[in-house]
Amino acid sequence: ASYDMGGHDTYMHKEIHEQADAVDRVLRGRIDDRFSTVHLGGLNLDAREARQIRRVKILGCGTSYHAGQIGAQMIEELARIPADAEPASEFRYRNAVVDPDTLYVAVSQSGETYDVLAAVQELKRKGARVFGVVNVVGSAIAREADAGIYVHAGPEVCVVSTKCFTNTTVAFALLALHLGRTRDLSVRDGKRIIEGLRKLPEQITEVLKQEEEIKRLAEQYADARSMLFIGRVRGYPVAREASLKLKEVSYIHAEAYPASELKHGPLALIEPALPTVAIVPDDDLLEKNRAAMEEIKARSGRILAVAHQHEPKADETIVVPKNEDELDPILMGIPLQLLAYHTALALGRDIDKPRNLAKSVTVE
Ligand code: G6P
Repeated sequence: ASYDMGGHDTYMHKEIHEQADAVDRVLRGRIDDRFSTVHLGGLNLDAREARQIRRVKILGCGTSYHAGQIGAQMIEELARIPADAEPASEFRYRNAVVDPDTLYVAVSQSGETYDVLAAVQELKRKGARVFGVVNVVGSAIAREADAGIYVHAGPEVCVVSTKCFTNTTVAFALLALHLGRTRDLSVRDGKRIIEGLRKLPEQITEVLKQEEEIKRLAEQYADARSMLFIGRVRGYPVAREASLKLKEVSYIHAEAYPASELKHGPLALIEPALPTVAIVPDDDLLEKNRAAMEEIKARSGRILAVAHQHEPKADETIVVPKNEDELDPILMGIPLQLLAYHTALALGRDIDKPRNLAKSVTVE
């Protein structure tokens, strides 16, 4: 497929810049201010059924798996239902216990990824309830799932996923809010999350305004042979996705690690030639993250922080607007999409079609 590039040199650049509009679309028509909840018409789930869910298991591949990790945390935080994400391919082959009180959620931009589709089919064969969180309307996974949420990001052409990742995390915030409001999430907290969601498009625009500065940073980091990405809890899946993005599009080796695990291994790698990107939300783990940055500085490591305020421990900070704690991961990944993009550009990579990768993997 070829779509209008709208003045951008690559689809990746265009799609990164479409995110404020894309998020607007995933929210549109779904917010219910009267009850501080959301309407998700495609779910076919009444409140009694929603309350019977004992666990949520999210399955996806690549970037969609990382969006699922963020989603799992949101569901646990807002709805207090135990939730986790797993690569669909791993799940399929380990003869997992399929539980009738678990809600399974298959995440896929294309809706055609074979491993995800096969996982859905296996689950349905065992009588499980499966939802899809999908971008492409009418795709195989959307059709196979019992119900679902479309993420409405619009067509995504670049092999590496950007706007679909963001919209998928927003779709999960909606699902988490919906499930939360059938349980113990208060009206007040529901309102707080809705207000946070409404701020997102404008905050995304604010982040994207920093492109020139991020480009300058990317040019500085482009000669690195390897990069480390760290975060804790809400920041960790953001670190994983940012590391994947950099690998895919720039071919620089990158590894993501929970900041709390640094001392159990990765600290041995720290030296001036290994830059660290630290995801540092202003939440109750801020001081812990600052301590991790101090450990890295003490070993002459270079640090780029993505934070809600200037971080004195870091060599450079990209400051992103603060939202509600639970929604912070949605915004924190966006500057790192630009970092990956401009690093790849500086290195002359084939940005929309990285070597050895395909937009959707429809074979085993
Ligand atoms: C491929 C793409 C990734 C994508 C993954 C899952 O590996 O290169 O960018 O995240 O498939 O695709 P899906 O369409 O299922 O989200």
